[in-house]
Amino acid sequence: MKLKQIESNIKDNLDYQTKQKHSDVVDDYYGFSVYDIESSLVDNAQVKFPNGNYKSWGKSLYAGSEAWIGLHPRQLQTTYYELIECCRELDLKEGEILCDLGAGFGRAGIVIGELYPKSFFIGVEIVSQRVEDGNKIYKNKGFSNCKLIEENLDNPNCIPISDYYFIYDFGIVSQINKVLEKLSDISSNKKIKIIARGRGVKTLIENNHPWLTVFEIKHFETFSIFSSHSS
Ligand SMILES: C[S@@+](CC[C@H](N)C(=O)[O-])C[C@H]1O[C@@H](n2cnc3c(N)ncnc32)[C@H](O)[C@@H]1O
Repeated sequence: MKLKQIESNIKDNLDYQTKQKHSDVVDDYYGFSVYDIESSLVDNAQVKFPNGNYKSWGKSLYAGSEAWIGLHPRQLQTTYYELIECCRELDLKEGEILCDLGAGFGRAGIVIGELYPKSFFIGVEIVSQRVEDGNKIYKNKGFSNCKLIEENLDNPNCIPISDYYFIYDFGIVSQINKVLEKLSDISSNKKIKIIARGRGVKTLIENNHPWLTVFEIKHFETFSIFSSHSS
């Protein structure tokens, strides 16, 4: 299944499991090795921390950061349906940059590489195996406008200046909060929008980040878009 087919299915109102299954098929089409890589990450975690489980492995292996080792790959990533809907809603323009903070394998880069070749994608991700797999695919497909960088968001200074930031509850609350504080600094020089997916990041924004709740807010089924300035 190609991304264009997902695009044409969007109006069909499919259930979430079907969207997840279709997204796996798209991953296969592009050549991702999500299941193999995730299972080897689990094997490695089991050897190093035999008494651990999916709740502890990520944090044990990545110095307290939540790398979601052992989570089912379908839960790890946002479906292509949602990512397409999000990019349509943002109406990505030539030269604009979307950054995914905690990018997984970089599915959003597939959407931008394929459907928005004049815009740019940068994904920040802590797990090197996911970064390598995503970048290999962007290279094979000639998506020179997309890249994943291996960084730890515990240091928010690694965050690239972008127009849009996608955040899907990537980590622990204090880290997400630090990242939102850094985005607040960035927004003092430019208008940004934040796409918040997951209860954690949405609640944090609503409770602790009034700079994102004064202007336009749009809610969708699985994500919300907050703006730092009026439109
Ligand atoms: C829930 S997944 C979301 C993946 C992607 N954004 C999506 O929506 O498809 C969160 C990702 O954030 C990454 N992550 C967690 N903590 C991180 C950190 N401190 N620095 C960079 N990436 C991190 C995890 O390894 C995981 O791949």
